[in-house]
Amino acid sequence: MNKKEKFYITTPLYYPSGKWHLGHSYTTVCCDAIARYKRLTGYDVFYLTGTDEHGQKIEERAKAAGLSPKEFVDGLVDNIKQLWKLLDISYDKFIRTTDDYHVKSVQDIFTKLYEQGDIYKATYKGKYCTPCESFWTASQLVDGKCPDCGREVVDAEEESYFFRLSKYKDRLKKLLTETDFLEPKSRVNEMVNNFLTDLSDIAVSRTSVKWGIPVPFDDKHTIYVWIDALTNYINALGYNNGGKDMDFWPADLHMVGKEIVRFHTIIWPAILMALGLDTPKKVYGHGWLLIGGDKMSKSKGNTADPFVLAERYGIDALRYFLLREIPFGSDGTYTDEAFLTRINADLVNDLGNLVKRTVSMAHQYFGGKVKKVESAGEYVELIKGVGEKVDRAMNKYSCSEALEAIFALVSASNKYIDVNAPWALNKAGDTEKLNEVLYNLLEAIRVIGSLLLPFIPDGAKRILAELGLKPPKELDLKPFTTREFNVGEGEVLYKRLDIKKELSELQSLGEVKAEQKEEKKVEEKEGQPNKEITIDEFFETQLLVAEVIACEKVEKADKLLKLTLKVGEQTRTVVSGIAKSYTPEEMVGKQVVLVANLKPAKLRGIVSEGMVLCATDGDKVVLVSPERKVNSGSEVC
Ligand code: MSP
Repeated sequence: MNKKEKFYITTPLYYPSGKWHLGHSYTTVCCDAIARYKRLTGYDVFYLTGTDEHGQKIEERAKAAGLSPKEFVDGLVDNIKQLWKLLDISYDKFIRTTDDYHVKSVQDIFTKLYEQGDIYKATYKGKYCTPCESFWTASQLVDGKCPDCGREVVDAEEESYFFRLSKYKDRLKKLLTETDFLEPKSRVNEMVNNFLTDLSDIAVSRTSVKWGIPVPFDDKHTIYVWIDALTNYINALGYNNGGKDMDFWPADLHMVGKEIVRFHTIIWPAILMALGLDTPKKVYGHGWLLIGGDKMSKSKGNTADPFVLAERYGIDALRYFLLREIPFGSDGTYTDEAFLTRINADLVNDLGNLVKRTVSMAHQYFGGKVKKVESAGEYVELIKGVGEKVDRAMNKYSCSEALEAIFALVSASNKYIDVNAPWALNKAGDTEKLNEVLYNLLEAIRVIGSLLLPFIPDGAKRILAELGLKPPKELDLKPFTTREFNVGEGEVLYKRLDIKKELSELQSLGEVKAEQKEEKKVEEKEGQPNKEITIDEFFETQLLVAEVIACEKVEKADKLLKLTLKVGEQTRTVVSGIAKSYTPEEMVGKQVVLVANLKPAKLRGIVSEGMVLCATDGDKVVLVSPERKVNSGSEVC
């Protein structure tokens, strides 16, 4: 028996530090489509995903939640596994950096590198952000400040173990510039110019971080990020632990977001070189899913919830949107509207309609049995050529391009129906032509259904079931091989969405969540001893006197008033939760204190540009105003 060729694909290991969002689903769904495509085209696939569970941020979050770090990450790991189940992710292994075999192997790797001189102890000098407890190099600072929180940093020193990264500079340069190791190619220059030219050794341990893997021969130190997180890709295969699956190494594809390309294309290959192992065949740095122009991320709080979207609209809708809407390699934007429009346009109108119309006509005109007939022409050529186009796209790992090719056939098929008008052929009694048209359409749908299996497995299986076919174990794309179709009456595959209604429901879901978040924040704040801030931190808040020049109730929101404020020469709209304590009439003419540099937020569809300060006394809300009238726009300090 011929041994199947192996294919090893990985996602990054995600940080379990908060809620999982659509950005994490993006990488995982892309890898899933690629893994499924490879399995269907005859490869022996190993698809790895997992979680990166150590580090200070996780330790802090756990503390804030009143849990031990392990308890904290356990909950989030259960949650991400549920998400992958919901999205039908076909991973072969899930690795956690807290797994015993991983911890042991990381310690063995660290010891080996130390003993062979690739790791040494020295003093780490850098810029330190005290509130974040993080060291930064000068080049990582943004405008001289901490890139995470934007605050001042100070010079500081710490004893650390270092990895001799600089030793591998020439080999790394070759790997990056003379091979196809990193894609898209546009990211190669950035790596070479920004990071390789000035490559220094990197600190690989910390004494300040406790939640992590201890350096085995010096337990004052915790192994920091790189050697812990990156070596998962070999530890999952049994490295230092029997090597059961090491014949999958080197990885065919590490799929990562563009922000972690540097550590996958510089630090990771250098660690592998030091270990005497092959470097991965490819790292692909994909673009980001943006929301409101910004990267969707936990820390920014601008996320879309994959649980809500998949449960409301089904996994086909979510998987299809992620794989199709974001041009592979570039950034793409999520909006509820773009998402709902995609479902209606592509899945409901184009694909669903094609299948329903064709199957119903086959049932109506031939009792469901349609025999093979020879045919030729442009449409037939299109059906014959689509498999190759998809293959070409998938060899570049471009799911969006593959879906474009499949959906080009879907729309050509709908046009083929319109041009050939089977109902007219039936009326005219041209059974021969009618048979040919319907056979061609059913063959096209068989090819479409088979090709869609990696992308929307559930929908693809339903399409094939409509044709009375089982999903194939391997893709059989040779068209026009089916001798006879035997189809049913035709089911509706996807229900049309009322976009306006859905948009408003999604928006209120978002608002309920935002309100719950606010309440939680207040609860958390109340439960905590007051945190001290510096005077500089206080002055980051811009407080200005504003005058209310108009005020009205916000529809269907009994707590909210919409205020129009005059602030110096400007006017601003602010939505405030004071409707239970003030009427719109009594607000007009009042002077209030406005938090003027608050990021605008949408409340009940109104963009609120700031917040007015109030004292809260039980249920009572009392506005804070200057004791005597002052010019509007005056600063409060
Ligand atoms: N733990 C590290 C990776 C270690 S790999 C050995 C990490 N984790 S993370 O939770 O921050 O996940 C980052 C990855 O999640 C990105 O590289 C990307 O694959 C995915 N994404 C997170 N947000 C994303 C978007 N907004 N858009 C697209 N992908 C996103 O970094």
